[in-house]
Amino acid sequence: MNKVTTLNQFIIEQQANVPQATGGFSSLLHHIGIAAKKINREVNKAGLVDILGRAGTENVQGEDQQKLDVYANETFIAELKASGECCGVASEENQDVVVFEGEMSRDAKYIICMDPLDGSSNIDVNVSIGTIFSVYRRKSPVGSVATLEDFLQPGCDQVAAGYVIYGSSTMLVYTTGNGVNGFTLDTSIGEFCLSHPNVKSPAQGKIYSINEGNYEKFPAGVKKYIKYCQEEDKETKRPYTSRYIGSLVADFHRNLLKGGVFMYPPTNSHPTGKLRLLYECNPIAFIAEQAGGLATDGGKRILEIRPETIHQRVPFYTGAKDMTGKVMEFLKTFE
Ligand code: AHG
Ligand code: MN
Ligand code: MN
Repeated sequence: MNKVTTLNQFIIEQQANVPQATGGFSSLLHHIGIAAKKINREVNKAGLVDILGRAGTENVQGEDQQKLDVYANETFIAELKASGECCGVASEENQDVVVFEGEMSRDAKYIICMDPLDGSSNIDVNVSIGTIFSVYRRKSPVGSVATLEDFLQPGCDQVAAGYVIYGSSTMLVYTTGNGVNGFTLDTSIGEFCLSHPNVKSPAQGKIYSINEGNYEKFPAGVKKYIKYCQEEDKETKRPYTSRYIGSLVADFHRNLLKGGVFMYPPTNSHPTGKLRLLYECNPIAFIAEQAGGLATDGGKRILEIRPETIHQRVPFYTGAKDMTGKVMEFLKTFE
């Protein structure tokens, strides 16, 4: 019989490689896995019960909150609080950081930034959506209440990052800075099982992913790069193929496995891009780099940006190393 490694076994095996580990971080990851399973359950039955559609409220960015957004946010926060290993959360769905003031949480070492439900416009139409998370060690002293400074750390200080994709199957993909591993949910036993060990992204692929409806509003370098993708050239296997789902997690995940580049440039309506640094770009960037790819705002490494606010947006280009490098070349040449 093939040996199956569950997420929990994997976490414990990893912990054994860190002699000073106390188990707190492992427990945190375990609770993230539980939250993912709870959200997955609701995503799967979304068509059956009254959880589809809008909640009738707006989030801090003025976007309609879908009911599943609210459910995912509440579920994740409750699970993190219950873990006792997290002292606060910055979420797309909350204006301010949520700090846990209980005695156990004050002693916790970690904070989390998260997009509880990514790709919400795809909920109602049965298209893949996701959850994104990012883990940092707190800056404020253990024993106190978390502060804003704990959340405004550059992405290179992440201790772990990951995403869950609720797709044709549900997967949890994460990194602790030692490669990327993917786990597929086996619903018959209710466990995430290691299915994609040590994921490496091809350096060159054939997919470009961008909302081309915004073409006229893109910077010149991006427009030229899109034309480059569409040109015929046998040697470089162009034209490339265009794929865009509209859920960052799903678009990134496909490109990670198959080889491709994802772009969300600045536009008139979103002059600094649309995607959020703390809970979309940083975690995805950490995974991209750990899989051998790149993530940039067009000039700088995403992971080196110093955040100023928790909902800050940045232009985002990520994926296969050579393809993302090429985009940067175009951005530089056609400023
Ligand atoms: P969210 O659902 O968390 O607000 O994120 C949506 C994001 C991201 O998932 C996706 O890449 C992007 O918005 C799509 O934006 P456009 O519809 O402008 O292409
Ligand atoms: Mn999102
Ligand atoms: Mn979201």
